[in-house]
Amino acid sequence: MYISRRERFSAAHKLWNPELSDERNVALYDKCANANFHGHNYELIVTVKGEIDKNTGCVFDLKQLSNLLKSTVISKLDHKNLNLDVDFLEDIIPTAENIAVAIWNEIEAKINSNRCQLHKIKLIETENNYVEYYG
Ligand code: NI
Repeated sequence: MYISRRERFSAAHKLWNPELSDERNVALYDKCANANFHGHNYELIVTVKGEIDKNTGCVFDLKQLSNLLKSTVISKLDHKNLNLDVDFLEDIIPTAENIAVAIWNEIEAKINSNRCQLHKIKLIETENNYVEYYG
């Protein structure tokens, strides 16, 4: 069984690789290369897989999952600058791909048990763009 919880956060970022030329950065990252940052309203969907607990009828307590996501990642990401403010994104170009991997690394050990495992991180950056990471 797979269960998912959605959380949202709003954050600013700028995508820029200092090892590339200005022209290459703009060609690669387009609007996300804007010098003075810009924002996105992100949606984070975390999926956990496991067996249904016979006592509770649940795979994982979704309220507990929500609280865990808020305390470990959302509180650090929401209304922050992803290039400057977030300890677990330090020295990472904050693309959706890199943010998804970093979130996985922050929460995996807190979710996995002998009964259930983190299955997927889905990070929606815009209406049309999202990434999915399976570890
Ligand atoms: Ni952007």
